[in-house]
Amino acid sequence: MIDFQDRVAVVTGAGGGLGRSHALLLASRGAAVVVNDFGGTVSGEGSSTEPAHRVVEEITAAAGVAVAEGSSVATPEGGEAIVGKALDEFGRVDILVNNAGILRDRSFGKLDWPDLDAVLDVHLKGAFYVTRPAFLHMKEQGYGRIVLTSSGSGVLGNFGQSNYGAAKMGLVGLMNVLKLEGAKYNINVNAIAPIAHTRMTSELLGPLAEKLRPEQVSPVVAYLCSEECELSGELWSVGGGKVARMFIGLAEGYFKDGEEGPPTIEEVAANLEAIRSEDGYGVPASSQEELGKLGQKLAG
Ligand code: NAI
Repeated sequence: MIDFQDRVAVVTGAGGGLGRSHALLLASRGAAVVVNDFGGTVSGEGSSTEPAHRVVEEITAAAGVAVAEGSSVATPEGGEAIVGKALDEFGRVDILVNNAGILRDRSFGKLDWPDLDAVLDVHLKGAFYVTRPAFLHMKEQGYGRIVLTSSGSGVLGNFGQSNYGAAKMGLVGLMNVLKLEGAKYNINVNAIAPIAHTRMTSELLGPLAEKLRPEQVSPVVAYLCSEECELSGELWSVGGGKVARMFIGLAEGYFKDGEEGPPTIEEVAANLEAIRSEDGYGVPASSQEELGKLGQKLAG
């Protein structure tokens, strides 16, 4: 049985929805949990510490250990305060689940800049602000597990969510770099693209809603947060009982030896099939690996 005894977890946006479910599960398996939530509306207006306190009550009622924290992830000070709460109350941070999120959907032409800023601040910059203080602490202790919450809206695209989609795909970029920077300190960084019925998706899922419970996502997050999980840099689609890796692959493509001159515009047009083919793809572990593969081709 996988447990989190003596582990300290921070879950952001844990006052409801997916975050609440992650916090309850981690606490039920022994983690001491910082339940962070700013407590605003789906679009990020207003604030209240009530949702975080309610979840802490649920955890303590079930004999778990948790404290509430009401800062916004969207500022550097908020990030420091959230991680500081874990250090002050429990003396360490082993697990960070970046989950807090808001929506400000608009088609691209109608997107107001404040709606771009708000969404980037919470999802993308918020992950930086909370992760860095946690990462520095994890580096010192030589152990850490970080989960980022991405979304199919960014990885695959969704109409009307340019701000949200860009922020969510930005998290994949953050993961790809942190998996490299964290490797020698035993800090693993993975991401999920969840699908679940919460207040955020209450109008989007239609009749599927009741089959898409947050509780079906949390065990996957908990696994990624466990000592047993040695994976890093993976993005998993999780929802309704399905768990599957999503990845960016690099295919074999078209190659013209540089000594013959650069490909002409017409050669690009004539070789679309090879350029676009998914044949022979791999999933390079870093951009260095991509460069290495190109180097091999260039060396003949
Ligand atoms: P939710 O609205 O129930 O939960 C988000 C939580 O984040 C709320 O409790 C909210 O108060 C909190 N929050 C918002 N701004 C915050 C801030 N600045 N600082 C701290 N807390 C803040 O929605 P849900 O669905 O549980 O979302 C959780 C995460 O999963 C989000 O990042 C969301 O984008 C992501 N996600 C959810 C999907 C779904 O199907 N439900 C699909 C893809 C991604």
